[in-house]
Amino acid sequence: NPLQGAQFVLAAHRINQLPADQGAEVAFAGRSNAGKSSALNALTGHKGLARTSKTPGRTQQMVAFSLPSLAQGEGQPPLQVRLIDLPGYGYAKVPPELRDHWKQEIDAYLHQRRSLRGVVLIADIRHPLKEFDRMMLEFCFQTHLPCHLLLTKADKLSRNQASQALAAMRKQFEQDGLQATVQVFSSTEATGVESAREAVVALLRQ
Ligand code: GTP
Ligand code: MG
Repeated sequence: NPLQGAQFVLAAHRINQLPADQGAEVAFAGRSNAGKSSALNALTGHKGLARTSKTPGRTQQMVAFSLPSLAQGEGQPPLQVRLIDLPGYGYAKVPPELRDHWKQEIDAYLHQRRSLRGVVLIADIRHPLKEFDRMMLEFCFQTHLPCHLLLTKADKLSRNQASQALAAMRKQFEQDGLQATVQVFSSTEATGVESAREAVVALLRQ
Protein backbone atom coordinates (compact mmCIF):
# COMPACT_ATOMS: atom_id res chain seq x y z
CA ASN A 1 0.00 0.00 0.00
CA PRO A 2 1.68 3.24 -1.18
CA LEU A 3 -0.37 5.26 1.32
CA GLN A 4 0.63 3.26 4.37
CA GLY A 5 2.27 4.82 7.40
CA ALA A 6 0.13 7.95 7.36
CA GLN A 7 0.43 10.01 10.51
CA PHE A 8 -1.75 12.64 12.12
CA VAL A 9 -0.04 16.02 11.96
CA LEU A 10 -2.55 18.60 13.19
CA ALA A 11 -6.12 19.81 13.10
CA ALA A 12 -6.65 23.38 11.93
CA HIS A 13 -9.54 25.74 12.35
CA ARG A 14 -8.12 28.21 9.84
CA ILE A 15 -5.99 27.67 6.75
CA ASN A 16 -3.11 29.64 8.23
CA GLN A 17 -2.83 26.95 10.93
CA LEU A 18 -2.18 24.22 8.36
CA PRO A 19 1.35 22.86 7.82
CA ALA A 20 3.63 25.07 5.74
CA ASP A 21 2.42 25.27 2.16
CA GLN A 22 5.24 23.16 0.68
CA GLY A 23 5.41 19.81 -1.01
CA ALA A 24 2.27 18.13 -2.29
CA GLU A 25 -1.13 17.45 -0.81
CA VAL A 26 -4.50 16.01 -1.76
CA ALA A 27 -7.72 17.11 -0.07
CA PHE A 28 -10.70 14.92 0.74
CA ALA A 29 -13.91 16.86 0.26
CA GLY A 30 -17.57 16.03 0.38
CA ARG A 31 -20.82 16.52 2.14
CA SER A 32 -21.19 15.80 5.80
CA ASN A 33 -21.52 12.08 6.52
CA ALA A 34 -20.59 11.13 2.93
CA GLY A 35 -17.75 8.97 4.24
CA LYS A 36 -14.62 11.12 3.80
CA SER A 37 -12.92 10.07 7.02
CA SER A 38 -13.80 6.41 6.44
CA ALA A 39 -12.33 6.60 2.93
CA LEU A 40 -9.13 8.12 4.32
CA ASN A 41 -8.84 5.27 6.80
CA ALA A 42 -9.49 2.64 4.12
CA LEU A 43 -6.95 4.17 1.73
CA THR A 44 -4.20 4.53 4.32
CA GLY A 45 -5.02 1.12 5.78
CA HIS A 46 -5.16 2.70 9.20
CA LYS A 47 -8.54 2.16 10.86
CA GLY A 48 -8.41 4.74 13.59
CA LEU A 49 -6.53 7.44 11.69
CA ALA A 50 -9.36 9.87 10.89
CA ARG A 51 -12.30 10.00 13.27
CA THR A 52 -15.53 8.72 11.79
CA SER A 53 -19.02 8.94 13.18
CA LYS A 54 -22.65 8.11 12.57
CA THR A 55 -23.44 11.70 13.49
CA PRO A 56 -22.97 14.07 10.57
CA GLY A 57 -20.63 16.98 11.15
CA ARG A 58 -17.98 14.89 12.93
CA THR A 59 -14.97 16.46 11.27
CA GLN A 60 -15.12 20.10 12.28
CA GLN A 61 -11.55 20.91 11.48
CA MET A 62 -9.16 20.59 8.60
CA VAL A 63 -7.12 17.57 9.60
CA ALA A 64 -3.67 17.07 8.10
CA PHE A 65 -1.96 13.68 7.77
CA SER A 66 1.57 13.18 6.52
CA LEU A 67 2.68 10.36 4.26
CA PRO A 68 6.35 9.77 5.03
CA SER A 69 6.43 6.65 2.85
CA LEU A 70 5.76 8.73 -0.27
CA ALA A 71 8.00 11.57 0.71
CA GLN A 72 11.33 10.07 -0.34
CA GLY A 73 11.91 10.23 -4.10
CA GLU A 74 15.03 8.46 -5.30
CA GLY A 75 17.81 11.00 -5.77
CA GLN A 76 15.43 13.88 -5.10
CA PRO A 77 15.20 16.15 -2.07
CA PRO A 78 12.64 14.91 0.46
CA LEU A 79 9.16 16.12 -0.35
CA GLN A 80 6.44 16.72 2.17
CA VAL A 81 3.37 14.75 1.21
CA ARG A 82 0.02 15.21 2.95
CA LEU A 83 -3.61 14.23 2.88
CA ILE A 84 -6.14 16.75 4.22
CA ASP A 85 -9.52 15.72 5.62
CA LEU A 86 -11.79 18.72 5.02
CA PRO A 87 -14.82 19.43 7.22
CA GLY A 88 -18.05 18.00 5.92
CA TYR A 89 -20.28 20.40 4.14
CA GLY A 90 -24.02 20.93 4.20
CA TYR A 91 -25.05 19.52 7.54
CA ALA A 92 -28.22 21.37 8.55
CA LYS A 93 -27.65 21.27 12.31
CA VAL A 94 -24.30 23.02 12.18
CA PRO A 95 -24.81 26.61 13.40
CA PRO A 96 -24.96 29.09 10.50
CA GLU A 97 -21.87 30.97 11.71
CA LEU A 98 -19.82 27.79 11.65
CA ARG A 99 -21.20 26.84 8.26
CA ASP A 100 -20.24 30.24 6.88
CA HIS A 101 -16.83 29.94 8.49
CA TRP A 102 -16.15 26.62 6.74
CA LYS A 103 -17.54 27.81 3.45
CA GLN A 104 -15.02 30.65 3.57
CA GLU A 105 -12.12 28.52 4.77
CA ILE A 106 -12.66 25.75 2.23
CA ASP A 107 -13.01 28.35 -0.49
CA ALA A 108 -9.80 30.09 0.62
CA TYR A 109 -8.01 26.75 0.91
CA LEU A 110 -8.93 25.73 -2.63
CA HIS A 111 -7.96 29.10 -4.06
CA GLN A 112 -4.76 29.73 -2.13
CA ARG A 113 -3.13 26.42 -1.30
CA ARG A 114 -0.17 26.07 -3.63
CA SER A 115 0.75 22.54 -2.57
CA LEU A 116 -2.77 21.31 -3.42
CA ARG A 117 -2.42 18.82 -6.28
CA GLY A 118 -5.94 17.53 -6.50
CA VAL A 119 -9.22 16.78 -4.78
CA VAL A 120 -10.77 13.45 -3.89
CA LEU A 121 -14.48 14.15 -3.81
CA ILE A 122 -16.56 11.68 -1.83
CA ALA A 123 -20.27 11.20 -2.51
CA ASP A 124 -22.81 8.59 -1.53
CA ILE A 125 -23.43 6.35 -4.55
CA ARG A 126 -27.12 6.08 -3.65
CA HIS A 127 -27.90 9.76 -4.10
CA PRO A 128 -27.63 12.24 -6.96
CA LEU A 129 -24.85 14.79 -6.60
CA LYS A 130 -25.79 17.71 -4.41
CA GLU A 131 -25.07 21.37 -4.91
CA PHE A 132 -21.81 21.24 -2.96
CA ASP A 133 -20.52 18.36 -5.11
CA ARG A 134 -21.41 20.18 -8.31
CA MET A 135 -19.73 23.36 -7.11
CA MET A 136 -16.61 21.42 -6.26
CA LEU A 137 -16.51 19.65 -9.64
CA GLU A 138 -17.12 22.92 -11.44
CA PHE A 139 -14.45 24.71 -9.40
CA CYS A 140 -11.88 22.00 -10.12
CA PHE A 141 -12.67 22.08 -13.79
CA GLN A 142 -12.42 25.88 -13.99
CA THR A 143 -9.12 26.00 -12.12
CA HIS A 144 -7.58 22.92 -13.81
CA LEU A 145 -7.35 21.13 -10.48
CA PRO A 146 -7.69 17.37 -11.03
CA CYS A 147 -10.61 15.77 -9.22
CA HIS A 148 -11.29 12.10 -8.54
CA LEU A 149 -14.80 11.19 -7.42
CA LEU A 150 -15.36 8.22 -5.15
CA LEU A 151 -18.94 6.95 -5.29
CA THR A 152 -18.85 5.43 -1.87
CA LYS A 153 -21.07 3.14 0.25
CA ALA A 154 -21.36 0.88 -2.81
CA ASP A 155 -21.89 -2.01 -0.39
CA LYS A 156 -25.42 -0.63 0.03
CA LEU A 157 -26.21 -1.43 -3.61
CA SER A 158 -26.04 -4.56 -5.73
CA ARG A 159 -23.08 -4.79 -8.11
CA ASN A 160 -25.41 -4.15 -10.98
CA GLN A 161 -26.92 -1.05 -9.41
CA ALA A 162 -23.45 0.24 -8.58
CA SER A 163 -22.21 -0.09 -12.17
CA GLN A 164 -25.37 1.58 -13.41
CA ALA A 165 -24.77 4.49 -11.06
CA LEU A 166 -21.17 4.73 -12.29
CA ALA A 167 -22.20 4.69 -15.94
CA ALA A 168 -24.85 7.34 -15.30
CA MET A 169 -22.29 9.56 -13.57
CA ARG A 170 -19.77 9.21 -16.40
CA LYS A 171 -22.46 10.03 -18.92
CA GLN A 172 -23.45 13.10 -16.94
CA PHE A 173 -19.82 14.29 -16.74
CA GLU A 174 -19.54 13.92 -20.47
CA GLN A 175 -22.72 15.91 -21.02
CA ASP A 176 -21.57 18.63 -18.63
CA GLY A 177 -18.07 18.69 -20.15
CA LEU A 178 -16.44 17.85 -16.81
CA GLN A 179 -13.03 16.18 -16.70
CA ALA A 180 -13.22 14.46 -13.33
CA THR A 181 -12.50 10.76 -13.03
CA VAL A 182 -14.97 8.61 -11.11
CA GLN A 183 -15.06 5.14 -9.58
CA VAL A 184 -17.14 2.91 -7.33
CA PHE A 185 -15.92 2.66 -3.74
CA SER A 186 -16.77 1.14 -0.38
CA SER A 187 -14.82 1.70 2.81
CA THR A 188 -16.52 -1.13 4.65
CA GLU A 189 -15.98 -3.74 1.95
CA ALA A 190 -12.76 -2.28 0.57
CA THR A 191 -14.24 -2.01 -2.93
CA GLY A 192 -12.13 0.05 -5.31
CA VAL A 193 -9.48 0.73 -2.69
CA GLU A 194 -6.55 -0.23 -4.93
CA SER A 195 -7.57 2.01 -7.81
CA ALA A 196 -8.39 4.87 -5.45
CA ARG A 197 -4.89 4.57 -3.94
CA GLU A 198 -3.40 4.72 -7.41
CA ALA A 199 -5.49 7.79 -8.18
CA VAL A 200 -4.29 9.54 -5.01
CA VAL A 201 -0.65 8.70 -5.73
CA ALA A 202 -1.05 9.96 -9.29
CA LEU A 203 -2.46 13.24 -7.99
CA LEU A 204 0.38 13.64 -5.50
CA ARG A 205 3.08 12.86 -8.05
CA GLN A 206 1.98 15.15 -10.89
P1 GTP B 1 -18.18 14.25 8.54
O1 GTP B 1 -16.85 14.20 9.19
O2 GTP B 1 -19.30 14.37 9.49
O3 GTP B 1 -18.25 15.25 7.45
O4 GTP B 1 -18.45 12.82 7.86
P2 GTP B 1 -17.51 11.97 6.91
O5 GTP B 1 -17.75 12.33 5.49
O6 GTP B 1 -16.10 12.01 7.37
O7 GTP B 1 -18.13 10.50 7.11
P3 GTP B 1 -17.60 9.30 8.01
O8 GTP B 1 -16.41 8.68 7.36
O9 GTP B 1 -17.49 9.72 9.42
O10 GTP B 1 -18.81 8.26 7.81
C1 GTP B 1 -20.15 8.61 8.10
C2 GTP B 1 -20.95 7.37 8.33
O11 GTP B 1 -21.03 6.60 7.13
C3 GTP B 1 -20.38 6.43 9.39
O12 GTP B 1 -21.44 5.85 10.10
C4 GTP B 1 -19.63 5.39 8.56
O13 GTP B 1 -19.50 4.16 9.22
C5 GTP B 1 -20.52 5.29 7.34
N1 GTP B 1 -19.77 4.89 6.15
C6 GTP B 1 -18.67 5.48 5.63
N2 GTP B 1 -18.23 4.83 4.53
C7 GTP B 1 -19.06 3.78 4.36
C8 GTP B 1 -19.15 2.72 3.37
O14 GTP B 1 -18.34 2.60 2.44
N3 GTP B 1 -20.18 1.83 3.53
C9 GTP B 1 -21.09 1.93 4.53
N4 GTP B 1 -22.05 1.02 4.58
N5 GTP B 1 -21.03 2.91 5.47
C10 GTP B 1 -20.05 3.80 5.38
MG1 MG C 1 -15.18 13.16 8.76
